[in-house]
Amino acid sequence: MDPMETKVVRGMTMRKDPAREACFKVADTDDQMISWPDWSEQSRRERIHRHMNNEITTAEVAAQCLADFPDAPWELRMELARQVWDESRHAAGLYRRLKELGGRKGEYPIANFEWAVSSYLDSVIGRITVMNRTFEAGTMDLMAYIPDGWRQNAGDMETAELLDAIAADEIQHVRFANQWVHKLCGENKRNLLKVVQAVKFLDAAQRAIAPAPGSTNLVGVSVDDVTQSAPINVADRQLADFTDDEISILLKQHDLENLVTGQAAEQGSQ
Ligand SMILES: [Fe+2]
Ligand SMILES: [Fe+2]
Repeated sequence: MDPMETKVVRGMTMRKDPAREACFKVADTDDQMISWPDWSEQSRRERIHRHMNNEITTAEVAAQCLADFPDAPWELRMELARQVWDESRHAAGLYRRLKELGGRKGEYPIANFEWAVSSYLDSVIGRITVMNRTFEAGTMDLMAYIPDGWRQNAGDMETAELLDAIAADEIQHVRFANQWVHKLCGENKRNLLKVVQAVKFLDAAQRAIAPAPGSTNLVGVSVDDVTQSAPINVADRQLADFTDDEISILLKQHDLENLVTGQAAEQGSQ
C-alpha cells in the first residue's frame, strides 16, 4: 500500500484513518480514549458517540471494498452495498439519539481501529474475514447483552430499542461474510491463505495496540474496567451461518468447553 495511505501505531503499519470532520479528535489506542464504567449521563453519551463512529467506520470499510475490488463477484458487491446502507442508517440513528441526550459530534475522542486493520488488507476475502466475520461477529456477541444493560442500568428503553434494531441487521453482515468466505475458499484454496494472513495480521495488530497492564484512559479509568467482553452468542452465530464446529472452537477458546460436544445446537434453539 502507498505509504501515504498508511500510519504506524506502536510498530504496526495500518491503513491511515479515514477523513473526519475537524470537530473529532482521533485516537489510536484505548488509553487515548474517554470511557466510564458507570451509567452517568456523560457515560451514556460517550457509549453512543463511540458506537456511532464504529458504525461509520463499518460503512467505510464496506464502501472501500466496493471501490478497491471492482472485480469482486457482483452478488458480494451487492451485499457490501446493502451493508453500507444499513450501517449509514445505524450511524444516523445513533447520532439522533446522541443529540436527544444532549450530546454532540466530537464530544469525545474516537478511534478507527477496525478500519485501520481491515482496510489495510489487499483482498476482499481478507477484509470481510476481519471486519464482518471477526469484528462484527464480536459485536454480535456483545449486542446480546448491551440493549438489556441500557434497560436495566439506565432505564433507557429508547436507546435499547434502537440497539435491538441495529443488532438484528448485524446478523446478516456476519452471515454473508461467512457464506462468501466458505464459497471463495471452496472455489480456490489460495483464498484460504488470504484468510489465514488476514487473521494473523489482525492478531499482530491487536497485540500491538493492547494497553500495557495498569493503563488508564484520559479520565483516569482503568482500561480493563471499560473493556467490554461477552460470551459467544451461540444462537446468533448459528443464524449468521457459523458452523457448529466453528462455534465449538470459539467456545473452547473462551474456556467454555462444557458447552461443547453437541450442546451448541441445543443452546442455539433456546
Ligand atoms: Fe451496524
Ligand atoms: Fe454491520
